[in-house]
Amino acid sequence: LTDITGLLLSRIRDVPDHPEPGVVFKDITPLLADPVAFAALTDALAEFAEGVGATKVVGLEARGFILGAPVALRAGLGFVPVRKAGKLPGATLGQAYDLEYGSAEIEVHAEDLTPGDRVLVVDDVLATGGTAEASLRLIRRAGAQVAGLAVLMELGFLGGRAKLEPALAGAPLRSLLTV
Ligand code: PRP
Ligand code: MG
Repeated sequence: LTDITGLLLSRIRDVPDHPEPGVVFKDITPLLADPVAFAALTDALAEFAEGVGATKVVGLEARGFILGAPVALRAGLGFVPVRKAGKLPGATLGQAYDLEYGSAEIEVHAEDLTPGDRVLVVDDVLATGGTAEASLRLIRRAGAQVAGLAVLMELGFLGGRAKLEPALAGAPLRSLLTV
């Protein structure tokens, strides 16, 4: 098992004062543009998916789609998009959640998750945990089980991991990098 931490870290660009003053944005586009780093990330998350016995991968719009879809393929699993409200054409389940200012809502096609499913949620960043928490609630409300949550990076200082504890209910949270 090789340590890919250094490789991944070297391909994430810090962008100061984006999208607003005082925020350091973690830009993953250099990582996506490097096929070796992107493959290493995909392999690591696919290995986690297999380890937790996932049957489906849920990706969170938008950056969770980029990471989650190749993970699903690599692990031989189906991919289910959780989208921002209003985008999915079929019968959906929705889950609202609070943002720093205001609120947001995500949706999933109800028929894409079944009671037999064990779902791994994939996203790029765990920040406050609001988005991930809403997705876990959505998966349970769809009748499926939560197999785990996997992110490329966790912003440790925002305390998302602690916030997610009740919603994870014992399911593992794996972050490849803590920044
Ligand atoms: C970002 C990031 C995570 C989420 C983390 O998504 O990709 O999905 O915020 O924040 P939280 O833990 O505080 O909920 P965002 O909705 O900004 O944009 P995206 O569509 O580019 O993924
Ligand atoms: Mg996102």
